[in-house]
Amino acid sequence: MSLLHVINHPMVQHKLTIMRDKNTGPKDFRELLNEISLLMGYEVTRDIPLEDVEIETPICKMTAKEVSGRKLAIVPILRAGLGMVEGLQSLVPVARVGHIGLYRDEKTHTPVVYYCKLPEDIQDRLVIVTDPMLATGGSACDAIAMLKEKGCKNIRLMCLVSVPEGIKKVQSEHPDVDIYTAAVDDCLNENAYIVPGLGDAGDRIFGTK
Ligand code: PRP
Ligand code: URA
Repeated sequence: MSLLHVINHPMVQHKLTIMRDKNTGPKDFRELLNEISLLMGYEVTRDIPLEDVEIETPICKMTAKEVSGRKLAIVPILRAGLGMVEGLQSLVPVARVGHIGLYRDEKTHTPVVYYCKLPEDIQDRLVIVTDPMLATGGSACDAIAMLKEKGCKNIRLMCLVSVPEGIKKVQSEHPDVDIYTAAVDDCLNENAYIVPGLGDAGDRIFGTK
């Protein structure tokens, strides 16, 4: 069974509250998502491998530690997942970025694939899939399945707001994928939107509604 990490750091919770507020506009929404992604990134990357590197301080030579950035990939689910990339990149600037385009059909709420472009060596990397909303879990499960088809074996899912339905679906279809989330909300409404949630994440990031 995959692990569920709820990142309840006070700064994350504070910023999320502002994001949830319907009066918060796209500029602030984007900035807060970026900040939270950086903070969540500390937890998501807590155990990534370090390598020895020989350096020289002003005092002497030493063997120091560095993150092997070549081993990491960030894969946002378009569109909303894009809003979490910059925060992670500021932690690991050399991480490669792939893109998976999925949208939910308005009637069936099932995901439709429209784009996929991944780093050539994606199968050798730890992949962090980003998407602020884990609702039915359909989009996350399909994106993870696409990555597994390309040979990825080490995948983590980073979202902002989730609900038990989506968590359960990811855990049953992908028991090897740990989930990182800042909140587990109550339920889905009749349109499969998260309650209380924050509305449509893509629209709030890009100001499309
Ligand atoms: C939203 C969100 C997730 C998906 C979550 O994307 O960003 O990708 O819905 O829902 P699910 O767990 O039920 O699959 P949407 O389809 O609205 O596309 P967008 O990001 O382009 O707005
Ligand atoms: N997608 C969103 O953007 N918000 C939700 O609440 C559910 C799916």
